[in-house]
Amino acid sequence: MKIFNPIKRGYLALEGWLNISFGGELNPLYHLGSLAFFFFWVVLVSGIYLFIFFDTSLSGAYASVEYMTNEQWYLGGVMRSLHRYASDAAILTIILHMFREFALDRYRGFRWFSWMTGVPTLWFVVTLGITGYWLVWDELGLYVAVLSAQLMDALPIVSGSMARNFLEGQLTDRFFTLMGFLHLLGQPILLIFALWIHVKRLSHVEITAPRGLALGSFIALMALSLYLPAVSHAPAQLNKVPSTLNIDWFYLNIYPLLDTWTAGQAWVLSIGVTVFLMVMPWLPPKKMEQAAVVHLDECNGCGQCADDCPFDAITLRKRTDEKRWEYEVVVADNLCAACGICVASCHSSNVFRYKNKTLDTGIDMPQFPVDEVRRKTAEAIAGIQGDTKILVFGCDHAYDVKKINTSGIGVMSLFCTGMVPPSLVEYALKNGVDGVLLTGCRNGDCFFRYGNIWMDKRMDGDRKPVLQDRVDRSRIEVFRAAETDGKKLSQKITEFQQHLISLNKEQSNATPEAQIEEVQHD
Ligand code: HEM
Repeated sequence: MKIFNPIKRGYLALEGWLNISFGGELNPLYHLGSLAFFFFWVVLVSGIYLFIFFDTSLSGAYASVEYMTNEQWYLGGVMRSLHRYASDAAILTIILHMFREFALDRYRGFRWFSWMTGVPTLWFVVTLGITGYWLVWDELGLYVAVLSAQLMDALPIVSGSMARNFLEGQLTDRFFTLMGFLHLLGQPILLIFALWIHVKRLSHVEITAPRGLALGSFIALMALSLYLPAVSHAPAQLNKVPSTLNIDWFYLNIYPLLDTWTAGQAWVLSIGVTVFLMVMPWLPPKKMEQAAVVHLDECNGCGQCADDCPFDAITLRKRTDEKRWEYEVVVADNLCAACGICVASCHSSNVFRYKNKTLDTGIDMPQFPVDEVRRKTAEAIAGIQGDTKILVFGCDHAYDVKKINTSGIGVMSLFCTGMVPPSLVEYALKNGVDGVLLTGCRNGDCFFRYGNIWMDKRMDGDRKPVLQDRVDRSRIEVFRAAETDGKKLSQKITEFQQHLISLNKEQSNATPEAQIEEVQHD
């Protein structure tokens, strides 16, 4: 039974609401990671332009930024604003991305690695923003510099007082150039490395935002840059305390705390939050499911399961048995999410094989083997009452199909609808149902990342193993429904029932010649 989770419900409602305007394909909440990458691209390209005109010396930095902002407002100014706003958009997107994984409970269990490695990226992005503000060397830059030095002074690793150096005017050009180096090269390289680790346990990683979304975001950034160009404060003056500072709350939120807190307290808070975020996947831990197992007798090493695995848990290696095939597959148990997608990828999972004995396949889920899936499907079909019979395949992470209590409907819930072998759909249609409805997580939002996508492609004949051409597509419906979409799903089922009733009527009224032709065609 699913536990009621108000945060998840609320979040799903928000996503559902955005789906009305954007559709599943362009819903920004489904593409937060790739949107963050897109904003980084904008930051990079605009940053390269700014670098060309930026003077990395303490005496020339401010004037060079002012030159770009005012004298070259049509290009340099726009680039500066794009650089600022894209950085803000990136951090906002990252925070939403993080919140989403939490709200939808996609941060525990096998996902601990992606979550844990995401946390340091936050540090890298925030500190990158901080050095960026520093480099302008206006009043805000000085404020950031002095308070950062105070923070550094509170660490036992720093000897001497950096803050005093600022106050006594001993900040050298060399130190400023070091900041420039960090911002322009050191920190970006660290961030790229951290991101590489972050997505290391995923395959087919979506780092390119959909074109429409990228274009829309860029237009919004341009509009903001033209309407509200980014400008500097007055130039930094070591002997003057600025009266008003416009803080960028996305990046500089820790600094105003230092008005009332000591640097040590600010460190305790930052490190405390970081450690808490890092251990969240174990608060409480999620049970790891049994990993997929390989049956070499049925595996020809074609590699389809390895290519389909969304979590990079399957690899190929040279055959270790005497079989004539070149490769065999291996599952890394610690990476396996137990989604079952690989079972449907395997050609040996064709449910028309081994009709009267156990159906063994190349790769299987020990806790719900494909043979049992076939048997339970047959039982579900046998239990359907009514004239027009529909079998609904659902997944354990979307709307709970076991709640459907409509006459004429049988249900089967799997770990993911990507676990349904296409042959099972054909099997259901051949064994007494009038139609098959496939549901599962909403489009663009598969709990196991690629289950929905691979299933659609297999049904459309675009990815192996395909649903055979001979199967009547008019008797198959796909409608995705999250936990909160029960009403929409039951409405769809009613519509599908009506459709099947008229289809049945049409086919029974067809002329005998047409019926013979249809059978021959089959
Ligand atoms: C610079 C910041 C970040 C970027 C650019 C980024 C980007 C991405 C991308 C592209 C993916 C793969 C999405 C997909 O193809 O399904 C991903 C996955 C993930 N990210 Fe991030 N991420 C960032 C920070 C974070 C942070 C701060 C957290 C949380 C602490 C986080 C948690 C996760 C998790 C749990 C996944 C796995 C999702 C899944 O398995 O379905 N990320 N991230």
